Amino acid sequence: MKQNRRKFLFTTSAFAFGWLFYRGGWLRASTSMNINPKKHSELHYSPLDFDADFLDTFPYKLPKLPYGYDAMEPFIEKQTMEIHHTKHHQTYINNLNKALENLDFKNAPLIELFRKVSVLDKSIRNNGGGHYNHTLFWQMLKPNPNKQNNVPSAGFQKILAQHFKSFDEFKKQFSDAAAKHFGSGWCWLVAKNKNELKIVTTPNQDNPIMDVVDAKDRGFPLLGIDVWEHAYYLKYQNRRVEYIENWWNIVHWEFVEKRWNNLK
Ligand SMILES: [Fe+2]
Repeated sequence: MKQNRRKFLFTTSAFAFGWLFYRGGWLRASTSMNINPKKHSELHYSPLDFDADFLDTFPYKLPKLPYGYDAMEPFIEKQTMEIHHTKHHQTYINNLNKALENLDFKNAPLIELFRKVSVLDKSIRNNGGGHYNHTLFWQMLKPNPNKQNNVPSAGFQKILAQHFKSFDEFKKQFSDAAAKHFGSGWCWLVAKNKNELKIVTTPNQDNPIMDVVDAKDRGFPLLGIDVWEHAYYLKYQNRRVEYIENWWNIVHWEFVEKRWNNLK
């Protein structure tokens, strides 16, 4: 009888201890990540912490494009735009929702998860980045069917010139970085703050907000080009340089400039 009681006490204590250890560990992990599950509107961000052009929340959804799939012709053709949006982007969203669905911080703004992405599951990094980066990418494009000269306003050209000597020099440096980036990834114009612009490339679906990016390159993305082959292969095959040259014709400079102006 005594032996049974001892056995019972031992088993229940072991279970209780295990449970407390498990909960404690989980609580510690949650606290150390300090992830706030509130919605964007309830949070107070510094201008570099908040992206007004990405307000989607869990469960994430494919954004509607503000133009047709053929709108970027002749620079990016219809089939690439359609597959890129409905297949590639949608897959990132599906996988992101799956990665988050059972987590207690699933409602935290994606931009906040990026700041702690090094301690999160890699699926959140890859698919969260995929959703955020593409949502911005679509907004950074503007139709230009008549192939008009596409340049930023004089004011923004001046800002670019302050950092890169001239607008043409900025284009050259950005194109070189995008062309030379090894493998899949993105090339960005990043505002580290209102006084410092940088050209940065990131691998895969990383972006300059993520804590996995070197601190000297981290900041707010103003402009980005997708250099994954899925973004250009049907029309350009291996000719990434030609894709980049053509992409300048459809950069939505007003959108880029608005992002810059929104920074305080
Ligand atoms: Fe892409």
